[in-house]
Amino acid sequence: MNKAVIGLQWGDEGKGKIVDYLSEEFDLVVRYQGGNNAGHTVIVDNITYKLNLIPSGVIRGKVCYLGQGVVLDPKHFTKEYDQITKKINNPKVYLSSNISLILDYHKQLDKINESILNSEKKIGTTSKGIGPAYQDKVGRKSIKLYDLKSKKIIEEKISSIKKFYDPILERFNEDKINIEKTVQDLIGFYKLVKELIIDNSLIKKEFRGKKILFEGAQGALLDLDHGSYPFVTSSNTVSSNIVIGSALQVDYETVGIFKAYTTRVGNGPFPSELHNDIGNYIAEKGVEIGTVTKRKRRCGWLDLVSLKYSCQINRVNELCMTKADVLNNLSEIKVCKSYNSKEYEDVNFSESSILESLSLKDTDFEIFSSWGEIKDLSKFDRLPDNLKKYISYIEDYLNIPIKIISLGPERSQTIIR
Ligand code: IMP
Repeated sequence: MNKAVIGLQWGDEGKGKIVDYLSEEFDLVVRYQGGNNAGHTVIVDNITYKLNLIPSGVIRGKVCYLGQGVVLDPKHFTKEYDQITKKINNPKVYLSSNISLILDYHKQLDKINESILNSEKKIGTTSKGIGPAYQDKVGRKSIKLYDLKSKKIIEEKISSIKKFYDPILERFNEDKINIEKTVQDLIGFYKLVKELIIDNSLIKKEFRGKKILFEGAQGALLDLDHGSYPFVTSSNTVSSNIVIGSALQVDYETVGIFKAYTTRVGNGPFPSELHNDIGNYIAEKGVEIGTVTKRKRRCGWLDLVSLKYSCQINRVNELCMTKADVLNNLSEIKVCKSYNSKEYEDVNFSESSILESLSLKDTDFEIFSSWGEIKDLSKFDRLPDNLKKYISYIEDYLNIPIKIISLGPERSQTIIR
């Protein structure tokens, strides 16, 4: 069966490592949304790979495919592909011809959008131009990969885009769009990726019979429609976007991935956030620094209320828990089980103002005793009893089994049940 790996929190759950781990059994690894706002660091055989766009399956020699729901920055892709070709022999990467491009003016607009918001309303985007690129897609202005075949089409499109955006760029003292340079850059880029582009009409045939692993980017709570709007990303991160974003009409099972605690980078509500030494300890021990923006991630206890919501909107079949080892030496570990004693059905997660009014004092906790150092990772039964209690409480609460437990960045630090 095909599988999807979906982040159930606010991103950074460790999808890269798990996709790399699982990819062995699959032929094809697919990204279907987002852009280089995502980021994984995967360590294999002491070599560190930093990937933002290309699925980590590429490291295992798997065929990787970026579907039409992805937004692609040519400058970024060029660098990432170059890095991969230096470390991996003959990487196999396909790009849907229907992908929308991120150009320089999208990054300028991302900056402008943030600059006009009051400080408490700023989204804290990754500044990669993601929102403005999706805005152009919805506004039917995108330059698509398939446009790059024709200089005339690029010129025509970029000329009308210039008419639309130059007044805004000028008003905010940003450089105006340079048609000649943009066209030249795009033609140069086309030469580089021409062989990687696959026409959408050929996708079904090319990938027929392949066993597919879908790699979600960001997390379900950052979903444009299901997340805490406006503190969300600009794509649908939930599993139901897979068929649209990949143009592959196939069935799949969903592995929901979550950290044993919660982190969030960027602004927006976070009821179980810890503004204290424990939060700082988790951030330091867990090296909670954004891969893309290098910003410190906000840290808090595991929030089962939002996790249950995420499992529901993603129709999760099985779970993977990462980074419980970060909590090893805390004297007690808490999980948030309700907000003001309310059942999860009562919380509206897509309206951020509701969640914003909640903080640690409004969350109800279950408390667990320390499990100390984890000495034996060889099998589940050998894990410390208190960690097993933690795991079984989460499984009971969510009514979904935790089948994968990741306790470190290396492949070998993974337990499958
Ligand atoms: P954007 O996706 O750059 O527009 O950023 C919108 C929000 O999503 C911000 O809060 C970002 O910090 C957050 N975000 C985007 N991509 C990721 C990710 O891969 N991990 C964690 N947060 C992300």
